[in-house]
Amino acid sequence: MAKRMFSGIQPSGNLHIGNYFGAIRPWVALQEQYEGIFCIVNLHAITVVQPPEDLRNWTRELAAWYLASGIDPQRSIIFVQSHVPPHAELGWILQCVAHFGELARMTQFKSKAEDREVVLAGLFTYPTLMAADILLYQTELVPVGEDQRQHVELTRDLADRFNHQYAPVFTLPQLYTPPEGARIMALDDPHKKMSKSSPSDASRIHLLDSPEQIVEKIAHAVTDSGREIRFDRETKPGVSNLLEIYAAATGKEMAEIEAHFAGQGYGTLKREVADALIAELAPVQDRFRQLMRENDLLDHLLAEGAQKAQAIAAETLRRVKDAIGLL
Ligand code: TYM
Repeated sequence: MAKRMFSGIQPSGNLHIGNYFGAIRPWVALQEQYEGIFCIVNLHAITVVQPPEDLRNWTRELAAWYLASGIDPQRSIIFVQSHVPPHAELGWILQCVAHFGELARMTQFKSKAEDREVVLAGLFTYPTLMAADILLYQTELVPVGEDQRQHVELTRDLADRFNHQYAPVFTLPQLYTPPEGARIMALDDPHKKMSKSSPSDASRIHLLDSPEQIVEKIAHAVTDSGREIRFDRETKPGVSNLLEIYAAATGKEMAEIEAHFAGQGYGTLKREVADALIAELAPVQDRFRQLMRENDLLDHLLAEGAQKAQAIAAETLRRVKDAIGLL
């Protein structure tokens, strides 16, 4: 049987090129070697209050982006988290395996909580639900962006603890981050990661941005002092981010890219980065628009995906309950 990979994205805003290069595109490539299970994690999205109508739309759109990017529903499972009840159930059980202190150390929780007046309890226990997502499928590989590293490490710790405390039920998953694009930074501040929730639209390129918007946003991206085009995150964070986006979009090696831009100015770099992004995104955008016109097809695929996911998840949950002594 093929090894399994699992990953997910929150339907909590419009997708940007960080989500695409850090997650979706590596999933598409890895489909050759792994059986993919790709979740739309709507229960995670509500750890921050979402307008219900937006949540509904973003959920459908996310399914369309998965497909438009090349996730093959014949080979991989695409489903919505809330359609498969074992996620919430195992999420609770893992709250009774995780320690308060280890959740309190999660850097993503700390930075998200810092910005808010009201912090929902679900934001704190978020990583136990993520661990449940992964562990229900006996997942071997979790392809994600760099910001999810700590959560995947916690998942391994929880699996290991459960296996020792109760019975060896869970497979310990491995983290996978892509060589290019695992951490795309904000265009207006290369010290911050590009994020769905930043108030500044100019900080990110959305997957649906038009060629004109892409040109405009890249043209305004923060660069660094000096004129040299060189990959060095320490001293040239802005230029390095553009080079990394270029590498992710073209698939070229960094040494080759540096040689290509040697002696050129920032204007040329920005024009070529924008062109590479437009070329990469145009066919994905076309397929996305087509899919969004076919609501029945999306609903049908999601129902089918939920059924397949449920069958696998229910079996793991049964073994978990048995190991714990839940009658
Ligand atoms: P989310 O929705 O914040 O992000 C989805 C994916 O996009 C990656 N990503 C980035 N990659 C590169 N550069 C960036 N600037 C950037 N921003 C986001 C994220 O690393 C992620 O891979 N907790 C997860 C969702 C989740 C999940 C899971 C993932 C829930 N359960 C189980 C894997 C397995 C999250 O919030 O992703």
